[in-house]
Amino acid sequence: MDQSMGELMNHTADMGQAQMFSKAWYNEYFRRAAESPTHSRFCEAVYGRDLCQHGMMDTDEMDFLASLLKPGEKVLEVGCSNGYITEYLHQRTACTIRGVDYSDVAIAQAQRRTQGKAPALDFRCVDLIHDELPGGDYDVILAIDSIYFMGDYGATLAKLNAKLAPGGRMIVAAFQAEEENDPDTILLPGHTRMAETLQGLSFRYTQHDFTANIRNHWIKNYEFSRTLQPEFAAEGNEFLCEARMAENGWFKDHAERGTLVRFLYVIDHNPNLAPPGLQGAR
Ligand SMILES: C[S@@+](CC[C@H](N)C(=O)[O-])C[C@H]1O[C@@H](n2cnc3c(N)ncnc32)[C@H](O)[C@@H]1O
Repeated sequence: MDQSMGELMNHTADMGQAQMFSKAWYNEYFRRAAESPTHSRFCEAVYGRDLCQHGMMDTDEMDFLASLLKPGEKVLEVGCSNGYITEYLHQRTACTIRGVDYSDVAIAQAQRRTQGKAPALDFRCVDLIHDELPGGDYDVILAIDSIYFMGDYGATLAKLNAKLAPGGRMIVAAFQAEEENDPDTILLPGHTRMAETLQGLSFRYTQHDFTANIRNHWIKNYEFSRTLQPEFAAEGNEFLCEARMAENGWFKDHAERGTLVRFLYVIDHNPNLAPPGLQGAR
């Protein structure tokens, strides 16, 4: 898990449910979220559109992301949850998209809902740490707020890079927070942990700044979880509200202190990077 997420976990350890962000926790989250009118209202208010989100990407950023995809491209989305974002991007861009996630509840929801859209939309249950990624030769691999859960950034990028077609690209949306012992430069565009990892592996990339969006996102996320708390409770979905509150205090503090940035990294396939396991081999 990424270091910033580790810091966040220290603040959320006492939630009293299945460990936050575990597979069991996400299964519970998506089981409830898919049926919850209040969760839909929350997403509409916070993200600008209800796509059952659990990340930080608002509609501006999503529309920018859609503008980077071309019709007919073969796309893999890692950490796709229950696939509403995947489906939206497919509708907007006419890409063929395979979504993978380890929440079998979320994947089953996506499969049921999009049955008629196969094979252009396809969903598989995959643990991004322990399982092989299905298929290969992807034109694009998308990771929207899922890269934090895949382990070491360098190993993850090498693993994803190995699944790209020559000339393909990865699009990674990720935040960076500044913690106590971090260097003063960590929030600067070329100095986030992701940027330094990309440079260390000689990737060519561009990064697009969505810092203003993410700061605004966390302030709204904080406010609406509190405004809608009675409605969540009336549905018996305190879990969903508590899940949001468990993280949004930490993020809102960072947003208000100006110690939180966000970038969308568009990363070219690196043909010279050995797949994981072969690095260092002759
Ligand atoms: C923060 S949510 C983001 C979901 C979605 N991309 C969005 O922006 O709303 C992270 C997603 O990654 C998935 N995930 C976390 N760890 C995973 C793992 N080890 N393997 C596969 N999926 C994982 C979760 O189930 C969840 O759907």
